[in-house]
Amino acid sequence: MDKYVIKGGSRLNGDVIISGAKNAAVAILPAVILSDSPCRIENIPDISDVKILIHILKEMGGEIEYLDRHTVEIDPRPIETEAVSAQIARQIRASYYFIGALLGRCRKAVVPLPGGCNFGVRPIDQHLKGFAALGCDYSLDNGMISVTAPDDLHGASIYLDVVTVGATMNIMLAAVKARGLTIIENAAREPHIVDLANFLNTMGADVRGAGTDTIKIHGVQSLRGVTYSIIPDQIEAGTYMVAAAATGGDVTVKNVTPKHLESISAKLEEMGVTVEEGDDTVRVICNKPLRKCNVKTMPHPGFPTDMQPQIATLLSVAHGTSMINESIWENNRFKYVDELRRMGAQITVDGKVAIIEGVDHLKGAPVRAPDLRAGAAMVIAGLVAEGTTVVEDVKYIERGYERIVEKLAGLGADIYRSQEPEEVMDKIG
Ligand code: EPU
Repeated sequence: MDKYVIKGGSRLNGDVIISGAKNAAVAILPAVILSDSPCRIENIPDISDVKILIHILKEMGGEIEYLDRHTVEIDPRPIETEAVSAQIARQIRASYYFIGALLGRCRKAVVPLPGGCNFGVRPIDQHLKGFAALGCDYSLDNGMISVTAPDDLHGASIYLDVVTVGATMNIMLAAVKARGLTIIENAAREPHIVDLANFLNTMGADVRGAGTDTIKIHGVQSLRGVTYSIIPDQIEAGTYMVAAAATGGDVTVKNVTPKHLESISAKLEEMGVTVEEGDDTVRVICNKPLRKCNVKTMPHPGFPTDMQPQIATLLSVAHGTSMINESIWENNRFKYVDELRRMGAQITVDGKVAIIEGVDHLKGAPVRAPDLRAGAAMVIAGLVAEGTTVVEDVKYIERGYERIVEKLAGLGADIYRSQEPEEVMDKIG
């Protein structure tokens, strides 16, 4: 069993370099199949979700060449299928971006219902509503979604009933090569949406307004291959910022876009942490006791739900009583609370609200990573706790954090992995 063994108590100190953004990469990789010629994607994070997507592209017939660990060249021209096989694609949520990308490429897509971290119901009704507005029919059969555009894709005005990252990006992928103008209203505004739009525009698309709640897409006939570098990962950066604060450390987080981190920096500053912004760095210094604060997760530019478990761990060791309100996902996103309680945290959950009474210290314990971000929270808890913490099920963490053990050890953490990471491809056959 793969686990991390962490001896708590070391202050994190030094520099850490942030990888490319997972949630941008997982949309940009499927988007490559919209191109008429090869694309070179740089700053790709070396994480298992990305490896799975690369594997899917290869299985579909794409030619893949890794130029180095973070740069991949993909030639989508040999792809002839409009289907994604279920076996691997079910392991990740983002496989659903192949629906939009395949629709854009060949007006037809057969893709398994998405998997991914389980925090309750994760519907895709808004994706399907968007595809229907663009002229598609769809059906569900045996765990597969088939979507076709019998009379071609045509632009449409689509109002999203909830602010959803996935539906916003999936509709963008389908609409870039549709006939006419598509308008997505109440669109999500996350940095990865802007990154996908920039990638598509570099390929020759006409996407405007990404980063606002109204995105306008004029369909074009073809898209060409480009070289494109993925933005830094906002959540990985935020996780190291919180880890630095939790351990009373002094860490410079490098290769970041400070603007994307403002909601996280603001909460840390409210807790008494010093955050110094550079051009592409943030330095986090914590040399005072942490103060309580309240956090409500919101779509961007609000506080990201993907940082909720990590900030909860920090608040567990702050002075006073804090409240977290999770407004994006159901209370399954509090699955880490039982694990943190085993380490001495005092947290009660009522529906979408967690009340956290700060304690003086956490105590090391055997815990598991219930999902990706909750797993990161357990690692932070282990860094802070007295004694040794063993975090199991680290495969969830490695879906989204590149070489987290090496990066933390480089900052002075006492952490090791009890088994070398298997090659994901070996695991999934
Ligand atoms: N929703 C609907 N209908 C839909 C789609 C979404 O009701 O058709 C609801 C969801 O149930 C949820 C809310 O809308 O309550 C937001 O969901 P969203 O579509 O934004 O989430 P997602 O695209 O499935 C992405 C990230 C998640 C991140 C959320 C919110 C990827 C692959 N995943 O998920 O990231 O939590 O946006 O920011 O981009 C993670 O990285 O750990 C992770 C889970």
